[in-house]
Amino acid sequence: MSCVIIEGLKVSFAGREILHGLDVKFPANKISVILGRSGSGKSTLLRSINRLNECFDGYRGDGEIKILINGSLVSVFDIALTELRRRAGMVFQSPNPLPMSIRKNIAMPLNLAFRLSNAETEKIIREKLEQTALWSEVKDRLNDSAMSLSGGQQQRLCLARALALQPDLLLLDEPTSSLDKAAANKIEDMILSLKNKISVIVVSHSLQQAEKLADYLVTIDDGYIKEGK
Ligand SMILES: Nc1ncnc2c1ncn2[C@@H]1O[C@H](COP(=O)(O)OP(=O)(O)O)[C@@H](O)[C@H]1O
Ligand SMILES: [Mg+2]
Repeated sequence: MSCVIIEGLKVSFAGREILHGLDVKFPANKISVILGRSGSGKSTLLRSINRLNECFDGYRGDGEIKILINGSLVSVFDIALTELRRRAGMVFQSPNPLPMSIRKNIAMPLNLAFRLSNAETEKIIREKLEQTALWSEVKDRLNDSAMSLSGGQQQRLCLARALALQPDLLLLDEPTSSLDKAAANKIEDMILSLKNKISVIVVSHSLQQAEKLADYLVTIDDGYIKEGK
């Protein structure tokens, strides 16, 4: 079963073609890694899945992308964008916590997406902070600004925030590249713990990281898929 099926994907910006007609299928409930050099089109491929490229001036796209939602494959062009972005949660290269408290970083998006009681919200906050190995580090200062956290903690908070929305698919764009080795290791272990629970697609430029994480590995070179295995 695939969680994402991409067919004939072409993307260009301002008339320059970046992705040249890609066909790729990512397996459900596995960790897929998109590996490639800087500038090869990895982020553009990932952003095609949640239609984030459409935010950029000069974008043109062609092709079909289907994602697995509640057991059915649905075109990303047939889903409301807010729904798509919740189902396909994303974490970026540099941590981007909201400029508010640690608690609100999870509570605010959660309460926009679902109607929950305070007790339910608190329960999910705790669960997701435990899942990202942050709970013991922040439980006594949930009302402190998220900006007071280290880079690695901020990135784990961003993962917790994405996971709280119960995504079917997690898109991670070089999630450890701004971190030191110890902080990167924690994130990698967290990603591995998601295996067989949800579908994860991670962009990486590190072969070592790809080999550690990947159930399925796709290499991209200058906007072409080189190999998938
Ligand atoms: N919003 C954009 N506008 C114009 N060019 C872009 C945009 N995003 C990416 N590109 C170009 O697309 C190519 C691939 O970029 P990207 O997908 O970010 O590669 P990677 O993530 O592999 O480093 C690069 O040449 C980059 O300059
Ligand atoms: Mg990139």
